[in-house]
Amino acid sequence: MISEFQDTAPQRTDVLSHVHLDNNKYENVLEHMDSGIMLFDNHGILTFINVQMAKLLELPRNLVSGCTLMKLLRLPQMSRFKKKKILRIYRETIFHRKRYHELMDENGRHWLVTVTYGDQMDGDFLFSVKDVSDYKQIEQTAYQNDKLAMLGRISASIAHEIRNPLTAIRGFIQLLRPHLLQLGKDEYARIILTEIDRANDIIYEFLNSSKPSAPQKTVMKVESLLKEVVLLTESEGLMKGCEILLEVEDTPLNVSIDVKQIKQVILNMVKNAMDAIEEVGEEYTGMIRIKTTTENKFVQITIADNGRGMDHNTLVRLFDPFFTTKESGTGLGLSVSYRIIKNHGGTISVNSQKGEGTSFMIKLPLVY
Ligand SMILES: Nc1ncnc2c1ncn2[C@@H]1O[C@H](COP(=O)(O)OP(=O)(O)OP(=O)(O)O)[C@@H](O)[C@H]1O
Ligand SMILES: [Mg+2]
Repeated sequence: MISEFQDTAPQRTDVLSHVHLDNNKYENVLEHMDSGIMLFDNHGILTFINVQMAKLLELPRNLVSGCTLMKLLRLPQMSRFKKKKILRIYRETIFHRKRYHELMDENGRHWLVTVTYGDQMDGDFLFSVKDVSDYKQIEQTAYQNDKLAMLGRISASIAHEIRNPLTAIRGFIQLLRPHLLQLGKDEYARIILTEIDRANDIIYEFLNSSKPSAPQKTVMKVESLLKEVVLLTESEGLMKGCEILLEVEDTPLNVSIDVKQIKQVILNMVKNAMDAIEEVGEEYTGMIRIKTTTENKFVQITIADNGRGMDHNTLVRLFDPFFTTKESGTGLGLSVSYRIIKNHGGTISVNSQKGEGTSFMIKLPLVY
C-alpha cells in the first residue's frame, strides 16, 4: 500500500504544478479577454478586474482593486456619466435581479452587461461587459428594412383607397358643373375641384416621399450642397432663435448623389434640430453645427444641435416610420432619410444625450 502511494507521489506533484501553471494561464486569458470582467466578493469588495474593464472605466487597476462599490462611485477620477451607468447596472442586476442589462455609452456604442452570482459563484458577483454594437446594428438594419417594406405596402393601399374615390368625386362634380352653373353656383364646383386636386397632390407627395424612387445621381461638391441648405434654413433658424454654423473641409469633396433627395435628408435633419431647440424654451440660444470630415473613402456630414436631446425610448424608435413625438409631425422624415442614404450606399448614425443635444452623422461615398 505504502509503496503504491510512494510510486504515485511524484506524479501528483507533477499534476499540481500543471494545475498551477494552468491557473496562471487562465488568469492571463481572463486578464486579456476582449470583454470587461470584474469580480466582487460577498462583502462587496472588488477582488479582480481585467485590463479591458479598467480601460472601459478609464481607471488604473491598482486604484480600484480592493474598493467597495461605494468607494468606486466616490472616486473623483470617474466621470459622472460612468457613475450613473454603474448605479443603473447595480439597480437592475442586484435589486431587480436581472441577469442581463444593455446600455449605450457616450459614443453611442452598445454594451451588454451580464451578472453571474449564486451557488455557482460561492457568494461572489461576476460582472462581464461585452461590446454588442455590431450585432445591434445588424438587428436594427433588419428591423428597419421590415418596417420600410411594411410602409411601402401601407402607402400603396392608402393610394388605392383614397385616390379612387377622389377620382370618382371629381368626375361627378364635372358632370354636375353645368347644373351648378345654371344655379349660379359655379364657384362651388370650382372650389370642390381645386380642393380635390390639392388632396390628390398631398397624397402624391406623401407617397413619393415615403417611397423614394431610385436616385438620379449627379456629381456635386458637398460644400455647395451644404451651403444651399444653410441658405434655405437660415432665416427660419433666426426666427426660432438658432444660429446655423457651417464648417467644411478645405479640400473639395465630391459625391455622386440625387441632389433633391440628399437635400431633403439634410433639410429634415436641420428642421428636426430647430424643433429640438425650440422645445427647450423661447429664451434659449440654439446652435446647429453642420460640418464635414473625411474618413477612408467616405465623407461624414455631422449635423449637431444643442436642443433637448433624446431619451432611450425615442432613440430606439427614431427611424421607425410614423414615429413622432410632435403634435404635427408625420414621423416619416427620418425613416425616409434612412432609406435615401441607404440607396446612396451610405449610413446614418446618431448620438444623443437628453438635455444636452443630438448629432446626426451621415456618411456618403466620395467620388474622385
Ligand atoms: N435633433 C433632434 N433632437 C431631438 N429629437 C429628435 C431630433 N431629430 C429627431 N428627433 C425625434 O425623432 C422623431 C422622429 O423624427 P422624424 O423627422 O422622423 O419625424 P418628425 O420630425 O416627428 O415629423 P416630420 O419629419 O414629419 O416633421 C421626432 O419626433 C423627435 O422626437
Ligand atoms: Mg422631421
